[in-house]
Amino acid sequence: MVKPVVVVTRRWPQAVEDRLSADYDVCLNQDDTPMSVTELQYAMQNADAVLPTVTDVFDAEIINVNERRTRILGNFGVGFNHIDLEAATVAGITVTNTPDVLTDCTADIAMMLLLMTARRGAEGDRHVRDREWIGWRPTHMLGTKVTGKTLGLIGMGRIARAMAKKAHHGFNMPILYYNPSSISDDLIADLNAVKCDSPEDVLSRADFVSLHCPGGEQTFHLINADRLKLMKPTAHLINTARGDVVDTLALINALRNGTIAGAGLDVFEGEPHVNPELLTLDNVSLLPHLGSATQETRIAMGHRVVDNLDAFFRGADVIDRVV
Ligand code: DGY
Repeated sequence: MVKPVVVVTRRWPQAVEDRLSADYDVCLNQDDTPMSVTELQYAMQNADAVLPTVTDVFDAEIINVNERRTRILGNFGVGFNHIDLEAATVAGITVTNTPDVLTDCTADIAMMLLLMTARRGAEGDRHVRDREWIGWRPTHMLGTKVTGKTLGLIGMGRIARAMAKKAHHGFNMPILYYNPSSISDDLIADLNAVKCDSPEDVLSRADFVSLHCPGGEQTFHLINADRLKLMKPTAHLINTARGDVVDTLALINALRNGTIAGAGLDVFEGEPHVNPELLTLDNVSLLPHLGSATQETRIAMGHRVVDNLDAFFRGADVIDRVV
């Protein structure tokens, strides 16, 4: 039987590349160089499936390439704001993603950033490495206590709920949340979470605000100068969602002027570029998009893509249909 031709756009964990190689006629990206528009278009013309990840922009120019052969985009990642879903729908291309398997690890990173910004973790590490530490003293590098403080979540999907669990049960934090649609009580039963009617409500009441909304036009610069002004001057903002949910220049001003106390960022507008002004601020903790970056999770994400692919090519329903 002729195996479907599959193009993988970036290097994947070995175990998943081995599985793909056994079951498909696969073209791997061993040196992990990002593919150009021309290369992605060529892949769409010559492969039955293309497996992109969150850094590959699949816009209409790529999706609508002449003589397209690809019928499925199996995205390695839960976020899909880099894929033009309208163009994919019109072209009849199936798009899948990888929910569930990265929930806990991404929530861990959100919690880690919360702790880092509250307790000045990154700043403390720099202090020791720079050999500036002269010893313990009662007023040295004081941060903010986390236990018992209020966590506000904007977006209440899987990752937000996993973070809320850690924060509520591990750190005794009361939980506030805003979600544009209603959340089934079963999903948040053990959290005693208070629903807010607007992002503004969360921003003005929480000590820590963590963003968990999808990227895209609807959430572009959701956190802007006006909304940052609603936050308490002692509050911290955590972003593990997408960089462009936050207006970076407004955030830099808010951090510099003391509008808010600190921030923890795992995602950036236009990443991997990071606004150089952020690098000059001690009250922001920065990570290079590590949300799902554990061995276990990245292997699970890869297998989830292949599970979807297997279902598609045997004519069954894909598990994680986006479109
Ligand atoms: C995703 O899957 O969308 C994440 O941003 C990668 O960790």
